[in-house]
Amino acid sequence: MGSFKKILRNVLGLRTVPPDFVGYENLIAFMESRQLHRLDGDIVEIGAFMGGGTVRLARYAQKYEKVVYVIDIFNPSLDQTASRGGMTACEVYEAYLGGNQMLAVYQEATRGFDNIVTIIEDSMKVRFPEEQKFVFGFVDGCHEKAHVENDFHIIWPHLVSGGVIGCHDYKYEDWSEVTEAIEGLIEQHRDEIEEMHEIVGSYGITSILMVKK
Ligand SMILES: C[S@@+](CC[C@H](N)C(=O)[O-])C[C@H]1O[C@@H](n2cnc3c(N)ncnc32)[C@H](O)[C@@H]1O
Repeated sequence: MGSFKKILRNVLGLRTVPPDFVGYENLIAFMESRQLHRLDGDIVEIGAFMGGGTVRLARYAQKYEKVVYVIDIFNPSLDQTASRGGMTACEVYEAYLGGNQMLAVYQEATRGFDNIVTIIEDSMKVRFPEEQKFVFGFVDGCHEKAHVENDFHIIWPHLVSGGVIGCHDYKYEDWSEVTEAIEGLIEQHRDEIEEMHEIVGSYGITSILMVKK
């Protein structure tokens, strides 16, 4: 796009939101249906990639004066999980980025939002202070088992009663470690989970949502 057109689109607030790979509108519809905004706490997203989902979450959160915390390392090379077909997650990210820097794409997409806090870090190193509360958290970071377990545990202790945690790629054969991790987590936390829902989103990939007792 020519730079004048780009400037005009920016001035008019018509910036194109990057695609997301989950179908965040389904997640937001679930949050609306459960009136999660009535609960006390913020939103956290682990794995933002180009920020398409972050923008959608931030617009929702803005309506209810909530903050969206985002954790992403913004370095494609760190996720070397191999899919069944042999392609690594890193190669998938790079193909979508088409030569652009992940962080730059994310920053452009999320520019102007004052309710996004971006934590640029390996999620293995992130923990929130005890007083932090979340009403919704979404795990879509590294596809290795240990990371999925870690990412779940970043959120779960801070999730309020009635709050929801979602994990992407559930039962998705390409990233089988994710399902393995989620099934272990469900087993481990069975007594603390009120309900579970599977939502099919973009590319026919499922997210599992767990409501905390
Ligand atoms: C599948 S993408 C997220 C897609 C995003 N939810 C969407 O739908 O647009 C996974 C993201 O996890 C991030 N990631 C991978 N390993 C990570 C790690 N160890 N710590 C933090 N982020 C990580 C990657 O940089 C990538 O942006």
